[in-house]
Amino acid sequence: MDFEFYNPTHLIFGAGKLAQLGDVAGKHGKKALIVTGGGSVKRSGIFDKAVASLNAAGVAYAECEGVEPNPRITTVRRGAQIARDEGSDVIIALGGGSTMDAAKVIAAAVLYDGDPWDLIGHGQENWVIPNQALPIITVPTLAATGSEMNCGAVISNDETKVKSFVQTECLFPKVALVDPELTLSVPKDQTAYGVCDIITHVTEGYFNGVDGTPIQDRFAEGVILNTIAWGQKAVADGSDLEARAQVQWASIVALNGFVQAGVEMLPPVHMIEHALSAHHDITHGAGLAVVNPAWMRFAAKARPAKFVQFAERIFGLRAKNSNDLDCALKGIERFEDFLKSIGCPTRLSELGIDDALFSQYADDAVLVLHDEDGNLLGRPPMSKEDIVGVLRSAL
Ligand code: NZQ
Ligand code: ZN
Repeated sequence: MDFEFYNPTHLIFGAGKLAQLGDVAGKHGKKALIVTGGGSVKRSGIFDKAVASLNAAGVAYAECEGVEPNPRITTVRRGAQIARDEGSDVIIALGGGSTMDAAKVIAAAVLYDGDPWDLIGHGQENWVIPNQALPIITVPTLAATGSEMNCGAVISNDETKVKSFVQTECLFPKVALVDPELTLSVPKDQTAYGVCDIITHVTEGYFNGVDGTPIQDRFAEGVILNTIAWGQKAVADGSDLEARAQVQWASIVALNGFVQAGVEMLPPVHMIEHALSAHHDITHGAGLAVVNPAWMRFAAKARPAKFVQFAERIFGLRAKNSNDLDCALKGIERFEDFLKSIGCPTRLSELGIDDALFSQYADDAVLVLHDEDGNLLGRPPMSKEDIVGVLRSAL
């Protein structure tokens, strides 16, 4: 193994921690821009509590509301303009992954003179990767993406139908203020999609990483097993604060880099899903629930041993030998059954997607992460025909 691990985000975790927002923000600025989504934080009272805490600490604020799920670059442009006009010096993201991602790119866009779309990788010749951003404080209201404690952001361009990412050091939040009480109002379906997203973050590294990472394998399996167990409880009873807290902690560790340390994770399932949500505006976790099992069946044929390990360690199956493809496929079936049991879709038809744009999705999926032959990076690398084949198997 040969790697570096770095995550500078200060994590503050626990029920009731929202009350600390003012003190936390006051350490990083005097005038905050609060970024919010489509209104859930207003309806639940979370916004009012956040403002009360800022007022008590003497931190002024302006607002950028209306970040949409699958956040648009137009919203980032609007948010950056508000931050400039208001003289904001710290950005607070109060919402789900979409709100956090938009807030992160707004924080960088404020300090960038060009168009914020330059900052998102989309196959352009000169990808301007930002190296400065206003301080970011994330206050997640939904357990899913792990954006609260990582340096990535995913943004969509409605005109070009491209959804892509930026991942760079200056986008690490200064503080992730994580209060599981804020997730009590998340509806059942979004809770389930979040659970799927968390597990998929871990399976991407588990199945697409380098060999010889036994400790990371065990971390990954621990996150998966706990997300299944506590995710079922959170879906069954959204008011179960303990379940909400466990799922939220899982969402953080699943993508704050720790489980992936030394793994050299590649995310082919995410690249394919992002192409689907760019065109159809579906929920990310719901798209993953369809793509991940289909991708697993494809990849298991090339490399059954890791999928046998998954089947044995996650679902307690017994293989005839370490390359037992039947056992590998049984494990994938059990995983798919779990996704169905919590209410996730597992077929494209359930998302209202047919085969009309399959080759377009394949083109889009390889836009940024591809090898010199144009194959999507992963284990194994995928040709465009492979991607179409996986999608066809998920119809
Ligand atoms: O917009 P509001 O009104 O807030 O409602 C949201 C939205 O409708 C609602 N919601 C959030 N918190 C709630 C709530 N409803 C009731 N009570 C609450 N406490 O849930 C809906 C979905 O929200 P969204 O933020 O879109 O969901 P999620 O957290 O799953 O974020 C998805 C986005 O993150 C990207 C995805 O591609 C997608 O664009 N990702 C970001 C990553 C990252 N930065 O590391 C990694 C991920 O793999 C992912 O790609
Ligand atoms: Zn994801």
